[in-house]
Amino acid sequence: LKMVSVRKQAARVRVGQVKHLSGETNQINQTRDPTTNANQNDTSHSTKPVSSFYHHSAVDIAASKPSMRLTPATMLYAGKSPDRSHLLRSAQYLHKELPVRIAHRIAGFRGLPFIVGCNPTILQVHEMYIRAFQLLIEHPRITDFHMERNYTELLKKLLDDHRDVVTMLADGFRECRKHIQNEQLVRQFLDRTLTSRLGLRMLAEHHLALHDDKASSTGSHHGGRRSNSNYVGIICVNLQLKKVIENWADFATKVCEHRYGRAPAINLNGHSGATFPYIEQPLHYILPEILKNAMRATVEKNADASTLPPVTVTIASNDVDFIIRVSDRGGGIPHQFVERIFDYHFTTAGVQEENDDNYDVFGAMVEMSNPSPGSGPMHGFGFGLPTSRAYAEYLGGSLKVEAMQGIGTDVYLRLRHIEGKHESFRI
Ligand code: COI
Repeated sequence: LKMVSVRKQAARVRVGQVKHLSGETNQINQTRDPTTNANQNDTSHSTKPVSSFYHHSAVDIAASKPSMRLTPATMLYAGKSPDRSHLLRSAQYLHKELPVRIAHRIAGFRGLPFIVGCNPTILQVHEMYIRAFQLLIEHPRITDFHMERNYTELLKKLLDDHRDVVTMLADGFRECRKHIQNEQLVRQFLDRTLTSRLGLRMLAEHHLALHDDKASSTGSHHGGRRSNSNYVGIICVNLQLKKVIENWADFATKVCEHRYGRAPAINLNGHSGATFPYIEQPLHYILPEILKNAMRATVEKNADASTLPPVTVTIASNDVDFIIRVSDRGGGIPHQFVERIFDYHFTTAGVQEENDDNYDVFGAMVEMSNPSPGSGPMHGFGFGLPTSRAYAEYLGGSLKVEAMQGIGTDVYLRLRHIEGKHESFRI
């Protein structure tokens, strides 16, 4: 029965939308597909199932190549050129790079235990990556601005098609949690998949943002209005950290008031004037997560109190990195959960049944938040904190939690500067 549903699932996702963006034929179309025996010279693609690419060697070849990660400084200085040739160079880089990274993701799905990889939702995401790979390698080389426009349109569409990937993975792993024997393996898969996806999306969004600085990508709607001169692609050249935190504090306050009828004040201190070049996107994932956790703990711990102790946010910025500490007086995290707060809560030994009191130790306050495309209601499934930590580490930083049971919790988000004293991270 399982196999039947897997097949159905595979058949459902078809590459009906694949169009040639130029008249060129391509590598893939000239091969015979061993799994369907269909003649792949048909350039219409109208009925080609994604599953026919399951064994395609192009994926293996691309997966064997290393990815070329860029420093934000490189992205910054590749910046803007008056003849717009930077757009061509950026697209040419992506044209080479994205299929390699996506092939790595496909290899990750192939490495999952069979019974987990067969979960229809996980399989669906796997197939989305196969489809993205196919569309990207089919695209002809980018030699002029017309081609570049087409490529940009394709990126826009893929970013949109993939916006729910995190939620889908959270759903998928929750659905098959009974079959997960090796949690470590799944944790590694999720850390890699989610951070690599962050990198992929940042690169693609950077390209779109280079095109049209007014149309900022995920970063714009909570970071205040975007002024063109402040940005090179997705890099804000003078990010005012305090403002970004304040925007998310307002947001978390609204969500908290909506959920509990009240919310603690948020005080900000430290280097509140710190301004430096940085990329907002990851902050838009991580900040709401840690702020809402602090507010939630405060409200729940002080349910009977007439006033709520404030949440205090301290900023420190130095020549290597910047640190955001969020301190609450929400009672801390019970000892028995401390070790587990960074687990992806799809499973873990019977604790995570929805009707279990312990379910949702950290979590579900912001199902409705869905602040940025792609984040979805993941928080409800205990994906928020582990994902935030994986993102911070991907960016050369860390996310640490210190609980003082009986008093409260301090969360330290440390991120490396783009132009700091030490080598910066790579995207
Ligand atoms: C994703 O959002 O899952 C991606 O990998 C983005 C990429 C297809 C451009």
